Amino acid sequence: MSLPDWCVAHPHMAALAGELKRAGAIRTRAWADAFATVPRHVFVPHWFEQETDERGITVWRQRSVDGEGALTAVYRDVTLVTGLDPATAEQVDADAWTGIPTSSSTLPSLMAGMLEDLGVQDGHRVLEIGTGTGYNSALLCARLGGERVHSVDVDQALVDAARDRLRGVGFDPQLLPGDGTQGYPDAGFFDRIISTCSVPSVPTAWIDQLRSGGVLLTDVALGIEGGLVRLSVDAEGRARGFFTTTAGRFMAARSDARTYPSAERPERPSATGARPTALTAPEIRSNYPLRLVLAFQLPATELVYYVDDMTGEMALQLQRGDGSWARVPLTGDNQGMVTFGGDEGLWKQAEEAWAWWSGVGRPTHDRFGYARETDGSAYVWHLHDGTRWNLPG
Ligand SMILES: C[S@@+](CC[C@H](N)C(=O)[O-])C[C@H]1O[C@@H](n2cnc3c(N)ncnc32)[C@H](O)[C@@H]1O
Repeated sequence: MSLPDWCVAHPHMAALAGELKRAGAIRTRAWADAFATVPRHVFVPHWFEQETDERGITVWRQRSVDGEGALTAVYRDVTLVTGLDPATAEQVDADAWTGIPTSSSTLPSLMAGMLEDLGVQDGHRVLEIGTGTGYNSALLCARLGGERVHSVDVDQALVDAARDRLRGVGFDPQLLPGDGTQGYPDAGFFDRIISTCSVPSVPTAWIDQLRSGGVLLTDVALGIEGGLVRLSVDAEGRARGFFTTTAGRFMAARSDARTYPSAERPERPSATGARPTALTAPEIRSNYPLRLVLAFQLPATELVYYVDDMTGEMALQLQRGDGSWARVPLTGDNQGMVTFGGDEGLWKQAEEAWAWWSGVGRPTHDRFGYARETDGSAYVWHLHDGTRWNLPG
């Protein structure tokens, strides 16, 4: 496969940068220049596009950059999935697989928003967690110079491929294969850390490797929901900040390159009751900040889609590590009913969180703060009235 000439790609790069500016994701000249000069197609020569087959099964069909038509596909504001979990991916066609995505080139508008939020300045040293394709590292190199950029990915093959691509466009950042929750050991202090995979809590290594006053930006995954937080670290190692206006979610950090983490789940009891509720599935599904508040209120709880084997009807289900669950239907006549098994209090707590959120005017996600203390404990709070939730360590 030969990659298209840069002259052919240039108008596509400029068009993507223009689109991101108009959307408000790019807010400064420096990042506009980076997006207009770094060729995404070099970093994403292959990707997988999602298709749903006639049985409703999602398959990933491979696409390649092999002509100008495909360039249009790469220079869109879309996430391009580039890796599938080898433990679950199954080939179902000559160029199609099932499986859980384990690497991607992030949605460009999300990347641009995060890079702007990071607040890098000339001369800053930046650590990226999750090298992936190398595209975001290249953007950082274009902005700061390769010598100031470090990046870690748990998958050695991704690091090797990214290094070749980065060198191919003239950048030579420090890349390391390994678990990015350990940061980049022995590389001195960073001014900024940006993570493109999610973590359940901020790793100690990141705090230790940031200079006092340094900033980190990461997706914290809190069970039911999660979000991007931008935290400043003080001289004592306390990190404090906010959920950013830029919203987005990332795949979970894994400690093993060969497989995607999957939670051990207990047996769930049969339904023990049902009752009317004012908290409906469409309300939960359509309100990201509500899901965040539910996540604050209900630690160790997940929110999953549930499909009834008998009727095929879909529901949203809260489920906890002790087996308790509660579900509300997504469609049909019973949307005002909750069915539960195990602890009835699970749904009651969700209703209380919803009542609080509605009562204080349905605040958006960027109205919440996030803090991590020096002992690793963390809490979130509502900026307006100070209501606070401690997060499990
Ligand atoms: C959304 S992709 C990164 C996108 C990348 N920044 C780019 O521009 O292409 C997430 C990446 O995080 C990596 N990852 C997952 N767990 C990790 C860990 N513990 N340490 C470092 N990287 C990890 C994955 O292998 C994957 O490549």
